[in-house]
Amino acid sequence: MDDRAMITGATAGLGAEFAEQLAALGNSLILVARDAARLEEKAAGLRSRFGVSVEVLVADLHDDDGVRRVLDRLRDSGEPVSILVNNAGYGLPKSFEANPLGDELNHAAIHLTVPLALSHAALEGMLARGSGRIVNVASVAGFTPRGTYGALKAAMINFSTWANFAYRRRGVTVMALCPGFVHTEFHQRMGMDKGAVPRWMWLNAAEVVRDALKDLSAGKAVSIPSLRYKVLAFIARNAPSSLVASLAARGR
Ligand SMILES: NC(=O)c1ccc[n+]([C@@H]2O[C@H](COP(=O)([O-])OP(=O)(O)OC[C@H]3O[C@@H](n4cnc5c(N)ncnc54)[C@H](OP(=O)(O)O)[C@@H]3O)[C@@H](O)[C@H]2O)c1
Repeated sequence: MDDRAMITGATAGLGAEFAEQLAALGNSLILVARDAARLEEKAAGLRSRFGVSVEVLVADLHDDDGVRRVLDRLRDSGEPVSILVNNAGYGLPKSFEANPLGDELNHAAIHLTVPLALSHAALEGMLARGSGRIVNVASVAGFTPRGTYGALKAAMINFSTWANFAYRRRGVTVMALCPGFVHTEFHQRMGMDKGAVPRWMWLNAAEVVRDALKDLSAGKAVSIPSLRYKVLAFIARNAPSSLVASLAARGR
């Protein structure tokens, strides 16, 4: 790979790891998130270690102006983006009815309508050039009924599966990445006790991203890192839905 990649949510967790591994492969980067100081620090480290060009785009993806600036950058055909990683996201701490409606709508936007908007803008140039790659960071939660988080991730898995089929003949790979529990800032930001999840269920961000990039190169529509989660996802897709719902209700 030797392209320009835009990664949303690049300050922490999986997004920071995508930035690291894509820079190590020689790609230029555009890092998107809200925390400007953290983005600049990350960008400086990547430039000095890998010698690649790194742009910083400070944007809140809950904000119309922030989304518009990211869309404008994706549509800039002078310095085209050939890899888009729709990764920014978080979980809400409570159940649907207990969360304020505004929080649920922001959550729906960051996991669904913003990635769709960014994919739409990126596809313009990718289809015209006949090449490009889009990773939509979903979750194994998308294979189970688990509140709005699972529902939104399910929609991105379904969209990516369709888009991969629709665009692969035109040179564009679209892939949903479906990790299980990964050590990042996600659970801490949500106020969740990580100790409640058995140790064997945790993955490392580096392994998840390595598997994802391998599957992306292979043109896969859905990537499920690790054998244990491939098995769990198979069970979730094939077991009776009432059983899957009751098992999924035990965790977030
Ligand atoms: N960790 C897991 O177990 C797990 C499992 C499956 C799927 N996922 C998915 O993986 C993706 C990344 O999560 P993570 O685990 O890496 O979480 P994380 O470590 O908390 O990182 C989340 C990233 O999203 C950015 N972000 C959050 N809200 C934003 C906003 N309004 N505008 C712009 N950027 C925003 C954050 O940056 P700023 O705060 O600087 O804006 C941060 O860079 C998410 O889509 C999540 O649903 C995570």
